[in-house]
This record gives sequence, C-alpha cells and structure tokens, in this order.
Amino acid sequence: MCGIAGYVGKNKANEFLLNALKKLEYRGYDSAGMTVLNEDGSLSCVRSVGKINELEEKMKKEKEMTGFVGIAHTRWATHGCPSEKNTHPHHDCKKNIFIVHNGIIENYKSLKKSLEKSGHQMESETDTEILAHLIESHFDGNLQQAVFDCLRHVDGAYAIAVVSKSDPGKIIVAKKGSPLVIGIGDGEYFVASDASALVGYTDRVIYLDDNEMGVIEKDKYKISSTTNNNQIHKEHCKIDLDVSEIQKGGHDYFLLKEIFEGPEVVQNSIRGRIISEKGLVKLGGLEVLDQKRLRDINRIIIIACGTANYAGMIGEYMLEEYAGIPVEVEIGSEFRYRKPVIDSKTAILAISQSGETADTIASLQEAKRKGALSLGIVNTVGSTIARETEAGIYNHAGPEISVASTKALMSQIVVLALLTVYLGRTREMSMITGKRITDELKKLPKLMEQVLDTKEDIKKLAKKYSKYNNFLYLGRKYNYPVANEGALKLKEVAYKIHAEGYAGGEMKHGPIAMIDEDFPCFFIASTDSVYDKMWSNMEEVKARKGKIIAVATEGNEDIKEIADDVIYIPKTLEMLTPILTAIPLHLFAAYMGIEFGFDIDKPRNLAKSVTVE
Ligand code: AGP
Ligand code: GLU
Repeated sequence: MCGIAGYVGKNKANEFLLNALKKLEYRGYDSAGMTVLNEDGSLSCVRSVGKINELEEKMKKEKEMTGFVGIAHTRWATHGCPSEKNTHPHHDCKKNIFIVHNGIIENYKSLKKSLEKSGHQMESETDTEILAHLIESHFDGNLQQAVFDCLRHVDGAYAIAVVSKSDPGKIIVAKKGSPLVIGIGDGEYFVASDASALVGYTDRVIYLDDNEMGVIEKDKYKISSTTNNNQIHKEHCKIDLDVSEIQKGGHDYFLLKEIFEGPEVVQNSIRGRIISEKGLVKLGGLEVLDQKRLRDINRIIIIACGTANYAGMIGEYMLEEYAGIPVEVEIGSEFRYRKPVIDSKTAILAISQSGETADTIASLQEAKRKGALSLGIVNTVGSTIARETEAGIYNHAGPEISVASTKALMSQIVVLALLTVYLGRTREMSMITGKRITDELKKLPKLMEQVLDTKEDIKKLAKKYSKYNNFLYLGRKYNYPVANEGALKLKEVAYKIHAEGYAGGEMKHGPIAMIDEDFPCFFIASTDSVYDKMWSNMEEVKARKGKIIAVATEGNEDIKEIADDVIYIPKTLEMLTPILTAIPLHLFAAYMGIEFGFDIDKPRNLAKSVTVE
C-alpha cells in the first residue's frame, strides 16, 4: 500500500516529514497528512486530498508546526474513498492519540462494532481509525503498552506509527505484513515505509520484521515483540542503494518490481477472504447486496479492456466450469455501441485496474440503464467504476506504476477465482471443491516464486529471440487468454516486434500460413485437459520449421523433443494455471524491451489509464 514517515529528534519534524512523503510519492497515493507534537504540548494535524504540494500549501495556512516529533502518511485508499475525513493521521475520541497506517485491518468491522458499543465515535470510513480508538481503550499513560495491547486484537496487515499528547516525545511503531524501516541519525531517528525516504539523512537503518514494534525517542529506541513484549536486539544495516533503486525494490524498472511483487499481491488479494475449513469465500464488498438477487443471476457479462479483458476471459472459463453460470466477455469499446439484450437477472462485471477506463465506464453505464446488476473488480478505491457499480471487490494489489499491467492481472485472476467460489458455493459447488480451490489459492505465492526463479533462463531466451520480428502466442482454454496477454505485453514493451495471441485450434484457420523458420511460436502448453491438442499444434508448427518456445508443466520431459526451448511451471489446478503461465511471458516481454533499450515502464504512445474513448 502506501507511505509512512516519522521523526523524533533535534530538528523540526515537519521538514523531514514533508521530504519523506515526496520521496515516497512513487508508491502512488490519493491523499496525504501529517501530525506534529508541538513544544507547547499542543498537537498540529494537517490533511489534504490530492498531491503533496497541496498538503504543503495547506500547511502554510495553518499554525506553524514547531514540534520535534511527528508522523506523516500518503494514503492509497482501501477502505473508504479518498476524502479529507478518510486521510491519515486518524485520532481517538479525545484527539490525544494519532496514528498513520499502511495495510488492511481484516477484522475492523467487528472491532468497530464493539468500540462503538462502548461509546467510541468514528469520524471516517477507514479501517485505520479503529486502531486509534482501540489504543485509546487500552491507554493508561503508557503508549507503548497500549499499542501492544491493541495489536493483540488485530488481524490483518499493518505498518503503523503512533504519537500521543499524553505520552509525548516518542513514536510507537509496529509492523506486520507492510514494510517499515527505522533510520538512525545523530540525535534523531527516522521512520519510513522504505529506505528511499531516508537517503540524505542517514545510511544506518533497522528493518523491522513482522510482529515487531518499537519505541523511538530522540536519543534512544527499543524494539520488542508484539507477541510477548520481550525486548529484541536488531542489527543495524547500511543502505547503499540509490533512491531510484530503492523505489524500484532494487530492480531497474517498476515493471520488473511489479512482476516480482506478484506473490505478495496474490497474498494481499486473498488475505482475509478464505474460510478454509468450509471451502467458502468471504467478499465483504458483495455482502452489501441482497444475496437472493445475486443467487437469481442467470448470466454474467464481463466488460473490460486490454489486460483486464484477458483476465475476464479466464474468469469466463472459471465461472462456467465451477459456478455453472453462463458468461460472456465483451470489450468495453465494442459493447458500448451494441444493442445488448439485458434484464434484471443479468449481472455486468466491470474489471479495471484504474477504474477510470472510459470504454469500460460507458459500457457499464449502458448496461445499468437496461437494468443489469452492476458489479466491479477494481484496484483503485473510490475510482469512477468503484462508485458506479452497486457492489464489487477491490483487488488490494497496491498501486501499479508501470504502464504495462502485470501484478493487477495476477490479482484479477485470483479475485475471479474467489468470486467463482463465492457464487459457486451458493449454487452447485460442493464444500470439497470449494476447499480444493481455496487451498490451492493459498499455495500460489510459493508456486509463483518458483517460476520467478527462472528469470535468468528467460533473460537468455529474450536475447536469443531478439532478432525475430514476429511472434505467435498460442494457448487453449484457460491459457488462450494468456496467449493474448503474452502477445499484448510483447507489443507494449518491446514494440518493434509484432506479436499475436491466438487460440491454438484457430492456427490452422489462417495464421499457419505465416509459419516458417523466421516466425517463432510461444506455446502455453501446461499439462491439462487440452494438452494433447496443443501437442498437435506444435507438430503442425514443427512441420513448417517454426521455432517453438513452450511453457510446460514441470516433469514433462517429452516436450523437449518438439520444443526448441522450454520454460517450466509447477503443477496447480487447471483454472489457476494462468497465474503461473503468465509470469514467463511478462518477464520475456520485459527483458526483450530492455534488450532493445526501451523505457519499459513508459512505452511510447501508451497511457496508464485510457480515460478517453
Ligand atoms: C495493459 O498492459 C495495458 N496497459 C492496457 O491494455 C490496460 O490493461 C487497459 O487499458 C485497461 O486498463 P484498466 O484495467 O485500468 O481498465
Ligand atoms: N487501509 C487504510 C485506508 O484505507 C490504509 C491504506 C494505505 O495503506 O494507504 O486508509
């Protein structure tokens, strides 16, 4: 998610805090805020929707922040749309305790209910605010103890920084699932989401690990466990990366960073949404609906563009095979001009990373006018599509900076699998099947890491095939959309090459005319229900001297007889295979673009969000 900063020391806090937020801007955000404990014991808090310079302007109009202790935040909304009241820092009833938070509190609804029952009044729609009130409910003058007691009730991911007027001169930090680093200066200490915010201030850091917390004062700090409050000794590390490297997680490009973030993104997309023992899925964003209306839906039309459309195509196979619901997938720019037949038992499912794609929005509005139930799978909270739909599911994939969409696709496929179980289990799907799918979903991050470990082989492949000007990507069933996605990525980031995705069975109806030794084919040929058919397609290409790069399931040695190069993926459920087969294609495209010296984060002619028709 987004950015946290904190300062305790000999200088005015707001100078570091503002600089830190600016260095954390790359993480993507929708609003920002800051709280400083002033010398006179008062507490200043400024919050603003929009860019950090708007926060800076607002600060100039407020009482000067004279304090030496403060916390700050850039928010990427997950609960509650971008608005000033949802912007961090959040506070308790008495405005005595202020908190900033990155992550998601999974059990915030139950905690909120019990806090409101005991008289706490919330001002925002966020999950974060309940932490301030929960700390307040444990606070007896010792802020560290109150935070420790609060966290024992909390499920979910967090990186937090907390200050209090009643226990001044210190910041309490804690980490679980979201990053947090402490910078060690001379007579001052710094807190940030990543070390890029500390460059120019210190090169000595402590990286907090999960279930650790710290008390930071101007001349000392103490790290302890959030499980037993025992003190922990932490080694100091030296940061020797430059800012841009840190911001890209040590990668040269955001595109590569986001591909390698895939396992963490899948973890975040399923976090708190699986009830394993019952093979059930919990989707809070759909629970707002009349569940009978959802059960009566007899048709789903998925509307999306580009990569999101290919995710939708994968979802079509899932929903039909495992939820027994007829599905069609439409391109946003086409559907908006059709005369679709829609009734109240039709659901429109708009899939969009940005939530601002004009063609998808227009199609969604058209379908709503005709009475369809409008649902969304969106990554950007509070975006137009998120607001236009009656209900939906947020990806929780975190901001996607690279124009070419990769981690969002991973999240979209996983969310579609969750939706399949959610709907399927109210229809024919058995508990056994639901459990089999949800158990396999939980294994995906580890399986994805295995595929990512083949990066050096894929880098060599990109070099080997960089002299070709055309590629055909072929796949069937769940991997047909992956073929489309692989071709799109290659076109997007290595745009001097043309590539086309095709259903394996369609090659003989035309494209085979192009095949010769100068026309390599990517076969997504995992061991599944259509593998034998893919083998036949590979024979057809081989017979015409075509080069074959195959993505195959580990253990399949036969494929080496026919393919010139093979990239292996671990075995998983057929419906989840796209999560694994897409990774080599994303990496191949990225390394090919780098081979050509292109800026693969911002390919020519492309925009991150196509908000025009
Ligand atoms: C994917 O790499 C492209 N950037 C593009 O096709 C994108 O998927 C499409 O514009 C849809 O964007 P959205 O998911 O934000 O709606
Ligand atoms: N879940 C919190 C919110 O929606 C924090 C989001 C973030 O990490 O920026 O405000």
